Amino acid sequence: MGEKKQIVLSAIQPSGSMTLGNYLGAIKNWVAMQEEYFCFYALADLHTITVRQNPQEMRKNILDMYALLLACGVDPDKSVFFIQSHVTTHAQLAWLLNCYTQFGELSRMTQFKDKSKKHADNINAGLFTYPSLMAADILLYQADKVPVGADQMQHLELTRNIANRFNGLYGNVFKIPEGFVPKDGARVMSLQTPTSKMSKSDTNINGCVYVLDKPEVIIKKFKRAITDNDAEVRFDIENKPGISNLMTIYSAVTGLNTEQIEKEFAGKGYGDFKASVGEAVIEHLRPVQEKYQQIIKDRAYMEETWKKADAFAQNFSQRTLDKAMKKIGYIK
Ligand code: TYM
Repeated sequence: MGEKKQIVLSAIQPSGSMTLGNYLGAIKNWVAMQEEYFCFYALADLHTITVRQNPQEMRKNILDMYALLLACGVDPDKSVFFIQSHVTTHAQLAWLLNCYTQFGELSRMTQFKDKSKKHADNINAGLFTYPSLMAADILLYQADKVPVGADQMQHLELTRNIANRFNGLYGNVFKIPEGFVPKDGARVMSLQTPTSKMSKSDTNINGCVYVLDKPEVIIKKFKRAITDNDAEVRFDIENKPGISNLMTIYSAVTGLNTEQIEKEFAGKGYGDFKASVGEAVIEHLRPVQEKYQQIIKDRAYMEETWKKADAFAQNFSQRTLDKAMKKIGYIK
């Protein structure tokens, strides 16, 4: 007791709806970590415009995602749950960090390469420098831990490199953060192409399950999931990526381990297994969906909640920004 809590920071983009991958890979951990850590959670709405957005849809997505995270269990009495674009320090520090981040480093980012292929008509500078903004998000809060899915670990490594470089020049300005990926669900794969991650940009709509999908849609997507021909529920990512992915999902929502799952479905067909995974996901998401329906109707509550959090985040992060600027040579 009396010890200072470690600091956690994480963020999610409000681009489209939350996927089961987001939920199992990151958000479940956000909720669990609130008990032990001092947590800052953000809607990364500045990151969102690296891909062109429709203004009306964007406003709706921001509100929906804010409500959904509250419904998932992000608790404003325990955590600081703010909106990135409302806190001015993020864009400011991102600019500074851009000047301490190398072209070569950014060129190696897998997400940049993937997104440039997907949006070949709009490879903008923001898409390229996206990781410096993410580094700013993290470093502003002197975060010890950053809960993310496995796909964000490369950005986290870059954040550590930028912070080390800056500290090497100016002394201890930034805490060096550690990534924190979950045991189950770090990499939830597409139900249709189980060798690529589940993502809203999946070309096949049956590949991606959304937290707000209706039960009948969820069950349909799981029943259509791609598997293999040897009719055995066994974990083997290399040779059985589809079944292994379904096992990972089942494990994350039931708490059962691989052996227990293999035993439960020994001698049963894939049809039974896929339906059971679908049902388990539906049951797991039911309370979240119900809570979301209540919260989304209460705009006043949401606004009050983010305003309090935005002000706290602004004040807290300003200290780090001021320190970094002073070290670089700016005058007040
Ligand atoms: P985003 O919005 O794409 O995803 C939010 C979180 O969900 C995780 N995730 C997954 N985990 C497992 N399996 C999947 N299929 C899957 N898809 C997504 C992501 O790893 C992430 O943790 N750049 C970030 C947002 C961000 C951020 C930050 C994160 C901005 N600033 C600072 C941490 C710290 C992103 O685009 O995540």
